[in-house]
Amino acid sequence: MVQRVAIIGAGPSGLAQLRAFESAKRAGAEIPEIVCFEKQSNWGGLWNYTWRTGLDEHGEPVHCSMYRYLWSNGPKEGLEFADYSFEEHFGKQIASYPPRAVLFDYIQGRVEKAGVRHMIRFNSVIRWVEYDPETEMFTITVHDYDKDHTYREEFDYVIVASGHFSTPNVPYYEGFDTFNGRVLHAHDFRDAREFRDKDILILGTSYSAEDIGSQCWKYGCKSVTVAHRTAPMGFDWPDNWEEVPALVKVDGNTAYFKDGTSKKVDAIILCTGYKHFFNFLPDDLRLKTANRLATHDLYKGVVYVHNTKMFYLGMQDQWFTFNMFDAQAWWVRDAIMGKIEIPADKQVLLDDVKEREEREDADPSSKYAIQYQGDYVKELIAETDYPSFDVDGACQAFFEWKQHKADDIMKFRDNSYKSVITGTMAPVHHTPWKDALDDSLETYLSVNDAA
Ligand SMILES: Cc1cc2nc3c(=O)[nH]c(=O)nc-3n(C[C@H](O)[C@H](O)[C@H](O)COP(=O)(O)OP(=O)(O)OC[C@H]3O[C@@H](n4cnc5c(N)ncnc54)[C@H](O)[C@@H]3O)c2cc1C
Ligand SMILES: NC(=O)c1ccc[n+]([C@@H]2O[C@H](COP(=O)([O-])OP(=O)(O)OC[C@H]3O[C@@H](n4cnc5c(N)ncnc54)[C@H](OP(=O)(O)O)[C@@H]3O)[C@@H](O)[C@H]2O)c1
Repeated sequence: MVQRVAIIGAGPSGLAQLRAFESAKRAGAEIPEIVCFEKQSNWGGLWNYTWRTGLDEHGEPVHCSMYRYLWSNGPKEGLEFADYSFEEHFGKQIASYPPRAVLFDYIQGRVEKAGVRHMIRFNSVIRWVEYDPETEMFTITVHDYDKDHTYREEFDYVIVASGHFSTPNVPYYEGFDTFNGRVLHAHDFRDAREFRDKDILILGTSYSAEDIGSQCWKYGCKSVTVAHRTAPMGFDWPDNWEEVPALVKVDGNTAYFKDGTSKKVDAIILCTGYKHFFNFLPDDLRLKTANRLATHDLYKGVVYVHNTKMFYLGMQDQWFTFNMFDAQAWWVRDAIMGKIEIPADKQVLLDDVKEREEREDADPSSKYAIQYQGDYVKELIAETDYPSFDVDGACQAFFEWKQHKADDIMKFRDNSYKSVITGTMAPVHHTPWKDALDDSLETYLSVNDAA
């Protein structure tokens, strides 16, 4: 009997899994029957931009957390697919920090070439997954919006690739309910021009805070105030940008901070992170973890320790992204196809998780964290036939990126790096990031032609 594998989600992780199986098939292996379920009408996950916020056209929560004018926040040289370079896709080397549409095109190019779209059922939301220990099968309940029909199907394995940057973590602060302006989470942020000439307050100090604040600055907001709960970001910000201690409360339009200072603001943007949220999974299958590099309860970062026929992709906090999802997907493919053995002793799985957590916790520095995740990618690819690449070279690009941010936070995207796949140096983008207001694919690529 042919085994059946369900993949939940056709974002970069789910697409990596489809590509992994397809490459085994191309090499002559007998692969299981694969069905990928995607609730949106197209692939790409977070990279599949929509103007919608709140609920989608069907009434499902909008998945997209990306916004207009989003450019890669790390160098593309850190995420390049080992089996599909930027040069192969675009026919030339391109600059190092592509806007969203360019990266979407790149993600799409590889899976179009692989011809895996027929394996995906679009507009199909997973409602529930159950496991029967007697039959050792999963039953999945799906709603097909094209037919407006709910049905159930059985699978031998389930791979959850539904992402974890989509369900916002939304704290409450006193006075939010009577604030005379917009209070929104980063998940619902779409167009920085909305905040032109406005004084904005941002909560949080991570990538969303840095990038949404920078966008609003670039597109003409009056001022940016960032309140930190733990520590300020500490970059050398422009003059109309200040970092203040934690927000205590809001009264009317005035925000009060922990050091007793206050500021009148027009809008509050909560860049307060996301939750691992799986409303389609029962307790015995549902991953519960903080957003960290060593996820809880995942052996090798992918096998659910409480049911080893259940896998999760991309659940880690992310320095590495596309190439890490590939490393995971190739490994999961080989585990399902019996090429890699998952230990039968649960204690071995739990010990593996503990060791990874302790090793991550040994050093809080970002340099250590980058190398830690790079080593994880190396560990996985050494166990499969995923094309080996210079992971340490990718770590080096990340180290340089961190330094470039420290040097000038509004100019770091003007730097370029060397591809660890093709060895060529990226061109310097023609227009500095702060002046490049049109982020369309055509402009980005044509600008490079002119360079
Ligand atoms: C604002 C923002 C900017 C980012 N920028 C970068 C960047 O510049 N560079 C970078 O490398 N990474 C970036 N990331 C990280 C991002 O997590 C990864 O690039 C990547 O999108 C993760 O892929 P994924 O497939 O794991 O998850 P996702 O991209 O979230 O895809 C998950 C898919 O699962 C589907 N799905 C969810 N639930 C169900 C269900 N119940 N039934 C069916 N389908 C379902 C969703 O519709 C979606 O298509 C960014 C993240 C955010 C939030
Ligand atoms: N251009 C881009 O490519 C881009 C842009 C945006 C985001 N991203 C990606 O999106 C992902 C998520 O990043 P993120 O910044 O949204 O989330 P995140 O990294 O999880 O950071 C969450 C932030 O929220 C703060 N926070 C949480 N609860 C809070 C509360 N109650 N009050 C005040 N502050 C609170 C945290 O502060 P503490 O430190 O105090 O805990 C932290 O600074 C990352 O992978 C990032 O790379 C990419």
